[in-house]
Amino acid sequence: MNRQDFRLFHRLRVRWAEVDMQKIVFNAHYLMYFDTAITDYWRALGLPFEEAMRQLGGDLYVKKASVEYHGSAHFDDALEVAMKCSRIGNSSMIFSGAIFRGAELLITCELVYVFADPVSQTSRPVPLALRRLVERFEAGESVLEIKVGDWAALGQDSMKVRAAVFVKEQGRAPANESHDVDSLALHAVVYNGLGQTVATGRLSGLEAAPSRIERMAVHRTLRGSGVGRVLLQTLMDAARQRGHAEVALQAPCSAEGFYRRQGFVARRDGFDVGGIPHIDMDRRL
Ligand SMILES: CC(C)(COP(=O)(O)OP(=O)(O)OC[C@H]1O[C@@H](n2cnc3c(N)ncnc32)[C@H](O)[C@@H]1OP(=O)(O)O)[C@@H](O)C(=O)NCCC(=O)NCCS
Repeated sequence: MNRQDFRLFHRLRVRWAEVDMQKIVFNAHYLMYFDTAITDYWRALGLPFEEAMRQLGGDLYVKKASVEYHGSAHFDDALEVAMKCSRIGNSSMIFSGAIFRGAELLITCELVYVFADPVSQTSRPVPLALRRLVERFEAGESVLEIKVGDWAALGQDSMKVRAAVFVKEQGRAPANESHDVDSLALHAVVYNGLGQTVATGRLSGLEAAPSRIERMAVHRTLRGSGVGRVLLQTLMDAARQRGHAEVALQAPCSAEGFYRRQGFVARRDGFDVGGIPHIDMDRRL
């Protein structure tokens, strides 16, 4: 078993609290490392776990977890946790995990999850939509769909994400979500493999350069999984197709690093929008 057989889902550095008297990682902690990797697996699938399970009408329960210890991890070791879904049965999903220190394989696991009714906790067949999605993901295929269009076509779906992020999460007034600019802008909405809306953004200033990227919002649980980057690329491509040589945006300071990594440059000092510090950024296309 080697690293190429898996995708890496989690990186960590061993902390003091995780080592035992022999100064090696206490055996039960590895299950926590694997569990964290499984959380990242669902994120990589583009699924906000709770909402996805609600839509699928069930939940996933660990039926069996086996861990095999081939080597020991020590304090301050940098570890990488890899994971793959190796089989889907009728109601079960079998995940194989491996923990590496560099190229060295330290720990392997097999986790048997069972899809079950959340009330009676009795097993149910894995829904076809989930089965197909995992199969596509494991085959290396894309699990997200992006639609680009006008407000009439995408406004309703875009508003689902905006309401969750701007109104519910950030506490902004729903009145801020007025649709005057929206009706003139170009919109992008990202859907996951279950058809759920997971991200949105708009491109305005279509006539006068530069285009402005606005109202970027990614579902809370999927941030950091690459969805925002895909969305931003889509909006930049749209601006390029309009013949614009530059895009500008107002980034919340907390997201400045994300935009910098995508080639945006910060201009002038920060300012406040609805109590949230922002900064002007732009990028040549
Ligand atoms: C998980 C749970 C819902 C499964 O229900 P169940 O009645 O025990 O399971 P079933 O007998 O219907 O079997 C379901 C699947 O699990 C598989 N399975 C059951 N026991 C297994 C075992 N010991 N090893 C491997 N697979 C096993 C079965 O083969 C079946 O797979 P398939 O449907 O793909 O053919 C139930 O056992 C439960 O609630 N367990 C507690 C969950 C829990 O608290 N987990 C720890 C924290 S998440």
